[in-house]
Amino acid sequence: MGQDASMEPFGSAGGVFQYKIYLLLVVGACSGLKVVVPSHTVHGTRGQALYLPVHYGFHTPASDIQIIWLFERHHMMPQYLLGSVNKSVVPDLEYQHKFTMMPPNASLLINPLQFTDEGNYIVKVNIQGNGTLSASQKIQVTVDDPVTKPVVWIQPSSGAVEYVGNMTLTCLAEGGTRPVYQWLKNGRPVHISSTNSFSPQNNILHIAPVTKEDIGNYSCLVKNHVSQMESDIITPTIYYGPYGLRVNSDKGLKVGAVFTVDIGEAILFDCSADSYPPNTYSWIQRTDNATYLIKQGPRLEVASEKVAQKTTDYVCYAYNNVTGRQDETGFTVIITSVGLEKLAQKGKSLPPLASITGISLFLIISMCFLLLWKKYQPHKAIKQKLEGRPETEYRKARTFSGHEDALDDFGIYEFVAFPDASGVPRVPSRSVPASDGASGQDLHYTIYEVIHHIPAQQQDHLE
Ligand SMILES: *[C@@H]1O[C@H](CO)[C@@H](O)[C@H](O)[C@H]1NC(C)=O
Ligand SMILES: *[C@@H]1O[C@H](CO)[C@@H](O)[C@H](O)[C@H]1NC(C)=O
Ligand SMILES: *[C@@H]1O[C@H](CO)[C@@H](O)[C@H](O)[C@H]1NC(C)=O
Ligand SMILES: *[C@@H]1O[C@H](CO)[C@@H](O)[C@H](O)[C@H]1NC(C)=O
Ligand SMILES: *[C@@H]1O[C@H](CO)[C@@H](O)[C@H](O)[C@H]1NC(C)=O
Ligand SMILES: *[C@@H]1O[C@H](CO)[C@@H](O)[C@H](O)[C@H]1NC(C)=O
Ligand SMILES: *[C@@H]1O[C@H](CO)[C@@H](O)[C@H](O)[C@H]1NC(C)=O
Repeated sequence: MGQDASMEPFGSAGGVFQYKIYLLLVVGACSGLKVVVPSHTVHGTRGQALYLPVHYGFHTPASDIQIIWLFERHHMMPQYLLGSVNKSVVPDLEYQHKFTMMPPNASLLINPLQFTDEGNYIVKVNIQGNGTLSASQKIQVTVDDPVTKPVVWIQPSSGAVEYVGNMTLTCLAEGGTRPVYQWLKNGRPVHISSTNSFSPQNNILHIAPVTKEDIGNYSCLVKNHVSQMESDIITPTIYYGPYGLRVNSDKGLKVGAVFTVDIGEAILFDCSADSYPPNTYSWIQRTDNATYLIKQGPRLEVASEKVAQKTTDYVCYAYNNVTGRQDETGFTVIITSVGLEKLAQKGKSLPPLASITGISLFLIISMCFLLLWKKYQPHKAIKQKLEGRPETEYRKARTFSGHEDALDDFGIYEFVAFPDASGVPRVPSRSVPASDGASGQDLHYTIYEVIHHIPAQQQDHLE
């Protein structure tokens, strides 16, 4: 009976197993003999006892029960270990102290286990009754020494600079057979990547180049069939930064890079950036063309003087003296007597974005009209026209424009048409649209007037 091939897969769960035996014994009317082993591979530790469990069942009257154990090492003839008939055991005298069996229980005890005991163990059961039934099973046994706690070291131990340096982590477990190495970072496996590579045995992790993301708690896990051990955690030193430089203040109104402070108030600025080792910080003040280094260190206190509407530019400069990299951020401090609450309200009613959009729109429209105007009215003609004008008229135009040489500038402002039409000599300066909040419609109207006005002037001149 070729039982080996026809064996059903048995779970190691004892309950299921015993239930199947019960079925074999009670239900299997026509089945002969079945020999089962819970596991076809058993891992043993050297120097310890190893138990190879075997169960069998049959459904015929039996006179003799014979059990034989054979040992088969890689590519060698199977060796007889011991056998039994009914309850009497006949050992091979060479191994009699090493193998134990308690028939009719077919399980084998090996004690102590040695490396030489590694191989396949074959159990054969013969039942003599109305004819002879026979079945066998094979169990593979491995023998290992448990691993010892691994040790990890990093090269270079002094640390590596981000994007410049490389790092090698080496793991070694002195004891243990057939160790399998695995690297963990913050408790999770490290995978191969564009910067991570492993030695063939996996006991060396090479990171080239290192980045800030490689900072973490590394450990090495070593396993074999009978044990596993994890190293102590090691944290590599990686120099990086500065990153994310920014300036914060304890008070004042902050809009973008502009801090507005009430007159007489002191304001404390704090400059910070992510970096290892910590940055050195310097503060620079810019006034007109001159820049001065005013302070070293991450904090700067500005005591606002009793001068209204003072504007000063500052720069915080961060330098990492190991990576050799630096960053700087500038900001403006406005000391005002207006009062921050008032400013905040104004900011709400006319958000900066809205005013910027308004000014941009105005400029675009102005440019368009300027181009149109230039196309229909060559530069020379205007100049001649202006020169040809009476002195008073020219001066009037100049007054309105607020410019000496406005011909190349925004000619739109120069229109004389508006006051001419209204008859009011006082004309708002060119900063009208922005500061007085003139609406877009007003602008439109004015420009429209210019367009209509120009051909008439030209005609005038030609005559
Ligand atoms: C084994 O036991 C059976 C029944 O108990 C008996 O008939 C048989 O003779 C025994 N065989 C040997 C070799 O002792
Ligand atoms: C065989 O003997 C072992 C102990 O030596 C015991 O644990 C096991 O249950 C026995 N098996 C059977 C089928 O009686
Ligand atoms: C023995 O086996 C034969 C056929 O193999 C069968 O006819 C006979 O009934 C069996 N005897 C018993 C006692 O089971
Ligand atoms: C880091 O490794 C890369 C590639 O393996 C190599 O080209 C480079 O020279 C190494 N840098 C240092 C500082 O060893
Ligand atoms: C690394 O380990 C230290 C303590 O050993 C712990 O404080 C830190 O949070 C760990 N870092 C991570 C990323 O798990
Ligand atoms: C700034 O410097 C330039 C040249 O260095 C000089 O011409 C200019 O007058 C300076 N401006 C002020 C406000 O000092
Ligand atoms: C780098 O700066 C730190 C202070 O932040 C200082 O203690 C250290 O000596 C400096 N190292 C070098 C190489 O200049």
